[in-house]
Amino acid sequence: MVKAVVAGASGGIGQPLSLLLKLSPYVDELALYDVVGSPGVAADLSHISTKATVTGYLPADDGLKAAFTGADIIVIPAGIPRKPGMTRDDLFNINAGIIRDLITGVALYAPSAFVLVISNPVNSTVPIAAEVLKKHGVFDPTKLFGVTTLDIVRSETFTASVAGKPDPSVFKIPVIGGHSGDTIVPLLSLSEPKVEISGTDRDALVHRIQFGGDEVVQAKEGKGSATLSMAHAGFRFAESILKAVAGESGIVENTFVYLPGVPGGDAVKESAAGLDYFSVPVELGPSGAVKAINILPQVSEYEKGLLEVAYTGLAANIKKGVDFIVGAP
Ligand code: NAD
Ligand code: LMR
Repeated sequence: MVKAVVAGASGGIGQPLSLLLKLSPYVDELALYDVVGSPGVAADLSHISTKATVTGYLPADDGLKAAFTGADIIVIPAGIPRKPGMTRDDLFNINAGIIRDLITGVALYAPSAFVLVISNPVNSTVPIAAEVLKKHGVFDPTKLFGVTTLDIVRSETFTASVAGKPDPSVFKIPVIGGHSGDTIVPLLSLSEPKVEISGTDRDALVHRIQFGGDEVVQAKEGKGSATLSMAHAGFRFAESILKAVAGESGIVENTFVYLPGVPGGDAVKESAAGLDYFSVPVELGPSGAVKAINILPQVSEYEKGLLEVAYTGLAANIKKGVDFIVGAP
């Protein structure tokens, strides 16, 4: 029996993500938590004739405890989204506290759950989550994931478009680093199938993958950021976890993890300028991350340049998240 929780379930991502989880054969119980509207979303989804039972919880009456208790997987898209002109880091002041409080709930009520953090800035909210779990003595780095799958989805879509291929889903392209602007590093040189895109075409494609989020923020004209494509991406990652839990082998997803706590992570950390957190392809097993795969030695000279830029931004974002919990030195 698998219990999945969405925290932030009434939001732009939360609602379609909850719908996709309700449709998944891997989910038996779906608990929807939000500070507003979750009972309504749950009532609506509960009429769908798939097996998962659906319940909605608000903070009142120990709703967080009821929603999280017994959870196997908790997906968190709670928090404010960007408006035009904002960076993801501009969300920190509000979203850091939201993540801290929700992860405290994880520590208290579902310490063995897989935790998938969608809330931005991911480069900082994942370190916040880790530090809260550490404080409570329940941190399992093989079960905490920053969701960077939308960068993968975008790299598949935009690369197929430039390469003139009709079906983006044939592409496998690692996107490593973090999840904001130039901390996002697409590795087109490792694309399968191979693509021959060079010069200004390559530069434009890389830039579009790095700043794809801005396209949506601008197109939505102040009404938020990517929600539907993110729900798809978040579900894709969540379903990979659930498939691995169900015993499927060979599942690899790019995700932002705490490297020292994941097998193989130390080698990645050494290649990645000593950073503790980094998104790389991670093999998933029934109990979480089995191996962080170090593809950094395979990148092209051009991509090495992108990585140097990413390291600087990531180091600052990670430190900001850690300091928020442990206190700045
Ligand atoms: P939204 O405003 O539509 O929804 C957010 C939801 O969170 C709301 O329903 C709100 O009530 C809820 N919420 C706020 N505080 C809460 C709390 N303490 N507990 C539970 N729920 C709470 O925003 P959205 O468009 O769904 O985006 C949510 C977050 O996801 C944003 O931070 C956004 O930047 C981020 N995001 C990340 C990615 C990614 O690739 N990781 C992609 C898109 C968006
Ligand atoms: C995205 O990549 O679409 C998200 O991180 C949301 C945003 O703020 O761009």
